[in-house]
Amino acid sequence: MIPQQLIARKRDGYALSRQELEGLLKGYLRGDVGDDQMAAFLMAVFFRGLDDSELEMLVDVMLRSGDVLVRGRAAGPRVDKHSTGGVGDKVSIVLAPLAAEMGMVVPMMSGRSLGHTGGTLDKLESIPGFRTDISLERFNTILESVGCAMIGQTEEIAPLDRRLYALRDVTATVPSLPLITASIMSKKLAECLDGLVLDVKVGSGAFLSRIEDARKLARAMVGVGRARGLAVTAVLSAMDRPLGHSVGNALEVREAVACLAGEGPDELRHLVAELGGEMALSAGLVLTLEEGRRRAADVLAGGGALERFRRLVKAQGGTLGFSQDDFGLPVAPMTRAVTANRGGIVSRIDPRALGYGVIPMGGGRTRQDQDIDPRVGFELCTRVGDQVSRGDPLAIVHGASPDDLFVGARVLEDAVEVADRLGDDPLPLVLERVVGG
Ligand code: URA
Repeated sequence: MIPQQLIARKRDGYALSRQELEGLLKGYLRGDVGDDQMAAFLMAVFFRGLDDSELEMLVDVMLRSGDVLVRGRAAGPRVDKHSTGGVGDKVSIVLAPLAAEMGMVVPMMSGRSLGHTGGTLDKLESIPGFRTDISLERFNTILESVGCAMIGQTEEIAPLDRRLYALRDVTATVPSLPLITASIMSKKLAECLDGLVLDVKVGSGAFLSRIEDARKLARAMVGVGRARGLAVTAVLSAMDRPLGHSVGNALEVREAVACLAGEGPDELRHLVAELGGEMALSAGLVLTLEEGRRRAADVLAGGGALERFRRLVKAQGGTLGFSQDDFGLPVAPMTRAVTANRGGIVSRIDPRALGYGVIPMGGGRTRQDQDIDPRVGFELCTRVGDQVSRGDPLAIVHGASPDDLFVGARVLEDAVEVADRLGDDPLPLVLERVVGG
């Protein structure tokens, strides 16, 4: 196999055979194919796409690049949720303990920040001591005792996704239907699940912003899962604005914990209840989605999910001061409020600008090997549609230096728009369900 020949074939729009695709990807894992060659291949896929049979092969090779999780002794239906990536999307941190409290077993394998979107692993690691690189044995023990556990891709499970994911992040090759499908479904199929709920984001902050593309992505993922006997449902949800009030790792954990305590933004709570309801339905714990939603909302309001989260954090080595206002999370040393320079209606809050805006402050990566600063980010004081007067605070930058505050304030000035009237109507929080391939 000569990598550059295969790259050229994909670049020129031809389909690759199983042997060719497998040779290239396994060569990459072994180190015979370099990051430079794989980046070129990913870019060729980005432009040319994959046909159905290539997509199925890619999922299969990625899945088989490692082991699958074993069921262990944890009792209950194994169900997970995965998002296609959004800004301010801290749903997993609330939903995993909530679903466990509802009687499900949630073996959640998550990713780091990707493109302009945040990653659950980076968010969790802002909790002092929290380990996402625990052994599989420990993972199973935690699943048994807590009902949920949260790790990243390992050398054993989905190693190819781990490598490709990091490379796509820094080579602008994330927003590709086949690459997203293979990345998500190879990980989720390796979790040995009974049910899976996909949160497919739609809008300017999503990787595939148009509803038609999001629908296609949802159908592709549902199709791949169902062909392998997994009960998958997809929910299309709004990402034309950030989810909730905060964007940035530690700030988002703080908001997630507030949500677990029955507080926090309504939209976050509603989406959690929707996805929790879908999980319960796919687990067979309820007969209708409406019943699932209600059950999820009741359990969230009851405080049991917060207690689960407390146990999860402890089991994974973390420490949170649940009685403190900031929960003992790392806090940025300085803040600056950005205020409205006119009165009017908040007509737009651009999620993509905020997602990218966190990166130069150190809250995301421009290279694969970078550490991130969990403290930095944005806290929104307004929502789209709010009426504001000149001088009202629109948002707060949390920074580690005066430079951060300057850069962050510029980002906010562009991202949060005040006008005489609303621009486009905000998307409904939940747009559609996709239940068939
Ligand atoms: N989430 C993933 O796990 N992979 C992607 O490609 C996008 C979102």
